[in-house]
Amino acid sequence: MVIAFLTALLAGCTSDAPCPNGSMAEGPGGLIVTEAEHPTGYGHDTCFECHAVATLHDAGCTTWVDPVALRNEVDAAVASQGEAACTTCHGDNGVTP
Ligand code: HEC
Ligand code: HEC
Repeated sequence: MVIAFLTALLAGCTSDAPCPNGSMAEGPGGLIVTEAEHPTGYGHDTCFECHAVATLHDAGCTTWVDPVALRNEVDAAVASQGEAACTTCHGDNGVTP
């Protein structure tokens, strides 16, 4: 409870920073999106409805991730698979096929 409150405060303070939620890759579940870190989007397979792919993946929030290489990889995956590309790295987002 206290930790959740402090986290909310800290998140509030850093909302202008490029990584308001820190590194998602180093959060719970790693790259796999969990329900707890995705309260708004969990259970939806329509990623593009809320996420503008062109604005993602270049913040460099994870030390071991090279944002340029990641952008290239995601762009290529989206070009060939469309929205389904997201599940390759981020899991099924709670969507049961
Ligand atoms: C209804 C809108 C919506 C949809 C649909 C949606 N998202 Fe999200 N997503 C959000 C929002 C808003 C956030 C910020 C966290 C939150 O409030 O849920 C977010 C955060 C994320 C994050 C970062 C999580 C973190 O810990 O920083 C990832 C990764 C993500 N979404 C992937 C996806 C993928 C993959 C899909 C499709 C399978 C998807 N989203 C569909 C709204 C959406
Ligand atoms: C090749 C693997 C890969 C694919 C494919 C991929 N992502 Fe990511 N995603 C990552 C990594 C790695 C991070 C963490 C980046 C960081 O911390 O700098 C990330 C972070 C995110 C975030 C957190 C905010 C940000 O910009 O870092 C969101 C939102 C997100 N991805 C959504 C998506 C959506 C939507 C798709 C489908 C178009 C997608 N991802 C496809 C690997 C991938």
